[in-house]
Amino acid sequence: MSILTRRRLLRRAALSATATAGAGLSAAAAGAGLTAATGVLAAGCDAPKGGDPTAAPTAERVRFPHDFGWGAATSAYQIEGAAKEDGRGESVWDTFSHTPGRTRNGDTGDVAADHYHRWADDLDLMRDLGLRSYRFSISWPRIQADGTGKPNQRGLDFYKRIIGGLHERGIAPMVTLFHWDLPQALQDDGGWENRDTAHRFADYADTVFRGIGDQVPVWLTINEPKTVVQNGYLWGHHAPGRQDADAAYLVAHHLQLAHGLAVRALRATGFDTRIGPALNLHPCYPADDSPAAAAAATLHDGYENRLYLDSILTGAYPADVLADLGPDSRMAKGIRDGDLETIASPVDLLAVQYYTPLYLTGNGNTVTRWPTSEADWQQIYPQGMYDILTRVTRDYGPVPITVTENGLPCPDTLGPDGTVDDAGRIAFLRDHLTAVHRAIADGVPLESYHVWSLLDNFEWAEGYDQRWGLVYVDYPTQRRIPKRSAHWYRQVIRDNGL
Ligand code: FCB
Repeated sequence: MSILTRRRLLRRAALSATATAGAGLSAAAAGAGLTAATGVLAAGCDAPKGGDPTAAPTAERVRFPHDFGWGAATSAYQIEGAAKEDGRGESVWDTFSHTPGRTRNGDTGDVAADHYHRWADDLDLMRDLGLRSYRFSISWPRIQADGTGKPNQRGLDFYKRIIGGLHERGIAPMVTLFHWDLPQALQDDGGWENRDTAHRFADYADTVFRGIGDQVPVWLTINEPKTVVQNGYLWGHHAPGRQDADAAYLVAHHLQLAHGLAVRALRATGFDTRIGPALNLHPCYPADDSPAAAAAATLHDGYENRLYLDSILTGAYPADVLADLGPDSRMAKGIRDGDLETIASPVDLLAVQYYTPLYLTGNGNTVTRWPTSEADWQQIYPQGMYDILTRVTRDYGPVPITVTENGLPCPDTLGPDGTVDDAGRIAFLRDHLTAVHRAIADGVPLESYHVWSLLDNFEWAEGYDQRWGLVYVDYPTQRRIPKRSAHWYRQVIRDNGL
């Protein structure tokens, strides 16, 4: 992200914080802390100094459980393209990306990585990598163009082909029902601010389950509800581009209601497959030893983590967050009798996505402690992976965990010899996998790990500028070139360890 873009985002966030402070919400609710990141350090994609990043970090080799689910992840809008084919309707991301000024270079997902047409080759690529699990998402507007009604058979057939192709190649599908591409028609009716959208989602989930539910061993409901809340409704740099904190937390409630209703819809089918939420968790640490920083870190943890973990896993919203939002907030008023029972419908597993820690000062601002990646919100801190995984198990009991996203963007270029040397990504993955392994050794029931991402893709507001893939995509030709990290990851999978 350029300094200018970053400044623009920070300014937007600051504006949103100011606006919401006026609406009576606290700085933490307004995410004000994130407006104050300072002191960006060296980029984390620099090749690590002192030795071969592919070498094991310790003399002792790190071995994973024998049935460990080595995987990679993608999402529909980020890779599929074919935006107008086979009856697909418009999503909020079509609208947003086609609105001038919303995405870098005006990039859109119209073509993306053209996976809709190249899916069979991409599945071969996954087989060659040795993947055991592939996490992808279904585009709601491919199944229901307007978000309601009879399913579009061509949309369902596309996913049937992918799921069948994965099984043929010995790769387990893990499918997310919603990775942010809400049908635009539902947005026109109020989107996630409208409680009815949660019920539309349950109907969509039911349609998908009845079509392909039993062929998918693990379903994930909603990808990162927090990102929709914060990026979509608090800061406005994701679709639908709103800046309204009071609306944002009502959206948090409706997204979770939608999650719970989808869990119930799957149970109603009687299929013997598993389901859970996909939450991006950020360990929150005090930036200094002051009691004020400790208090700020605790409240921030409420907004970042417990607002989703407590409700889904214990059936209660965190009292400190509810108190901070106040009884007159739209969220508080939007919670109806029985909602929390629905939200807490028992899940089979929890999908954790880890990218960065947050450090809070006494006044509720965040500071940057560690080197950042090309995504300057991302501090590279593998210990954070260990901390968040062990904390979930300690605080919420032994719910099975899958890591469904972890990775970083690097300034990858195709070399004259036709290879992409992303040594920084290898170092990142090795260090985070070492942390994952320690967490397992210390009792976390963690069954699989997915790199974000399989392919370079449309990184939302950043367009195609950030490359997060194990596999380089040469967009003009759509040629796929496995990066050095892909070769390294294949070996990790073969060795079942580092
Ligand atoms: C996560 C999103 C995913 C991708 C990565 C970099 O928050 O779930 O789609 O954008 O960040």
